[in-house]
Amino acid sequence: MDSLKQAHGNWVDGDRFWDREKDVELFIQKIDEGAHILLTAQRRMGKTSLMREVKRRLINRYTCLFIDLQKASTAEDAIVALSLALKPVEGHWQKIKGLFANVFGGFADHIEEVNLGELSLKLRAGLSSGNWSEKGDSLFSILAGLEPPVLLLMDEAPVMVNRLLRGEDFKITPERKANVDAFMSWLRKNSQEHQGRVRIVLSGSIGFEPVLRQAGLSATINNFPPFDLGPWDSATAVGCLRALANEYRISFRDNVEDEMVGMLGYCIPHHVQMFFTHAYDRCKRRGLMDFGPVEAGDVYENEMLGVRGHAELTHYEDRLKLVLGPEILPLALEILTEAAVCGRLTPTALIAIQKGYEFTGRSVPEATEEILRVVEHDGYLKPGEQGYAFESRLLRDWWKKRHSSLYQPALQRGM
Ligand SMILES: Nc1ncnc2c1ncn2[C@@H]1O[C@H](COP(=O)(O)OP(=O)(O)O)[C@@H](O)[C@H]1O
Ligand SMILES: [Mg+2]
Repeated sequence: MDSLKQAHGNWVDGDRFWDREKDVELFIQKIDEGAHILLTAQRRMGKTSLMREVKRRLINRYTCLFIDLQKASTAEDAIVALSLALKPVEGHWQKIKGLFANVFGGFADHIEEVNLGELSLKLRAGLSSGNWSEKGDSLFSILAGLEPPVLLLMDEAPVMVNRLLRGEDFKITPERKANVDAFMSWLRKNSQEHQGRVRIVLSGSIGFEPVLRQAGLSATINNFPPFDLGPWDSATAVGCLRALANEYRISFRDNVEDEMVGMLGYCIPHHVQMFFTHAYDRCKRRGLMDFGPVEAGDVYENEMLGVRGHAELTHYEDRLKLVLGPEILPLALEILTEAAVCGRLTPTALIAIQKGYEFTGRSVPEATEEILRVVEHDGYLKPGEQGYAFESRLLRDWWKKRHSSLYQPALQRGM
């Protein structure tokens, strides 16, 4: 019987990576054909894990470079991250040093001794005169000459671009738009020029598409075909729970694993793992490694929807704020709360909700359209026959628990 160790919230690969065989296979096939890929899925679906697992499997066939742009906010940051990714690659770091000879000077000889933080400051200094795209082009030329060919995995790229577009004050200015344009055009140009020598995977948990659309730049990534990573199907999620239970010596009673999957409603891998962790902790505390449906219901209500669950939800809300900005965020929150409390957001309810808002610089229908695009893209709501509804039961229950206490459904107001 399979067994699996818990992930503890980090990305997973190797023997902690569960299934996704078909996804991995298809992903590798596309890479082998020389494609660039836009890996999209809502947060916690396993994008980083998929990239890490693919990297692990391809390490002998490609020069695999992984960069995380979560904290990057400028094109220069991205170039520095890319340069540093080459540091561990045997023999290639020399070329990077050559590229930055202007700042390294005598320092180059001692460079192996300095820490990464210092090094990135140095590299950063070498880019301060607005020459990032030139250096970036040279960097890509270096990448294109490497053997084996490069697989460049850029995680959280849309977070960086979003920051580039909005700054810390969430204002889209013509200058910021121009910066995004310059960065995306640079990336596009190099991805085309070196196609076949450098494969690029862009991945992120906030949608690239809504961010670029707001900048009027949707076309810049149309040479990156999207690869959507979906939730696990029930059988995969049940298999994962069983493998975890096997590893940690829990005996599941009365098909509780099926019930657990049913409670989640939508199997985001992280939520499956979280549910198991709570179940395991409960068993350990009781000193009884036997777990059945009654305990599962209780763990769902009190742990999954409890304080720690709320901490998870806070991340969701932060992401939403990051993409939408503070002005229209309240409308987004109300839309989600209506859908959580009433089970769906009907067109009539939406009209009633819209009446309470007014924005500077854009109409309420425009803002609504943007919100719906984002909440749909980021996996909150799905359009259906009678309006929008939550995809994940867990997310809906979380949302309801947190936001519904003073909420009056739109169509019951003023009655
Ligand atoms: N293939 C997988 N096997 C087991 N657990 C997974 C898998 N993919 C994701 N997870 C779970 O989801 C969590 C989030 O994965 P991660 O790759 O960081 O997601 P993302 O990058 O989409 O936010 C991991 O900590 C792990 O619990
Ligand atoms: Mg990730």
